[in-house]
Amino acid sequence: MRTHVAADEQDFARRAAGIVCNVVRGRPDAAIGLPSGDTPLGLYAELARRARAGQTDLQGVTAFAIDELYGVPLDHPATNASYFRRHLTEHVALRAFHVMDSTTAGPAVECARFRRLIDEAGGLDLVVLGIGLNGHIGFNEPGSPFDSRARQVPLTDTTRAAYVQLFGSAKATPAYGLTLGIADLLEARDVLLLATGVEKAEVVAQALEGPVTETLPASSLQGHLSLTVLLDRDAASRLRGT
Ligand code: GLP
Repeated sequence: MRTHVAADEQDFARRAAGIVCNVVRGRPDAAIGLPSGDTPLGLYAELARRARAGQTDLQGVTAFAIDELYGVPLDHPATNASYFRRHLTEHVALRAFHVMDSTTAGPAVECARFRRLIDEAGGLDLVVLGIGLNGHIGFNEPGSPFDSRARQVPLTDTTRAAYVQLFGSAKATPAYGLTLGIADLLEARDVLLLATGVEKAEVVAQALEGPVTETLPASSLQGHLSLTVLLDRDAASRLRGT
């Protein structure tokens, strides 16, 4: 595991983009899994900046959103389909961008279709991950088996709480998500875990230095052979090893 602690927001975004761009330099037709959330926003802005400035070329890249809300219209601003349009694909030319269909009537079939697309792209060269306050990765909530595959999952109250504002009320907030499974995420050749903010410090320390357990999905990453962790100072503040 390589752990980097960024000096500030700009340094965080640059380092994260540097890691993504290195993978693409080595493999211009890379397949990359990407998370939503606030944490990677600087990364996506920096990728857009580099692409505009001609410093990187992502036109061969096939990108996959690692999760999606379920049962929400595609164009709702809270879906990952909307998120990635706003923050990535409107600004950066990619070969293709795939997201699971939040409106599908057959979640199992949709998840299988999505996994097939990843297989057809040759498997993920890199997956970028955020981490939830309860240690989830993608929408793999605590208790998710480490051998889980893409599937429909119930969202925990903690996770739903993060979306209430976007849906106006707890009742209107989706109860399910679609997510790549932990086994799908761990099959990526490289993993980049991103976390910022003091509220993530404890879960980051538990995930990286605590016991490997299905009650903390991100602890599964300890077993990955090529894991890079990029933190800001606040998120790193509980780690013993830094
Ligand atoms: C959501 C997403 C995850 C993301 C997490 C953290 O639950 N499904 O993929 O990593 O939130 O989000 P944030 O970066 O906003 O803390």
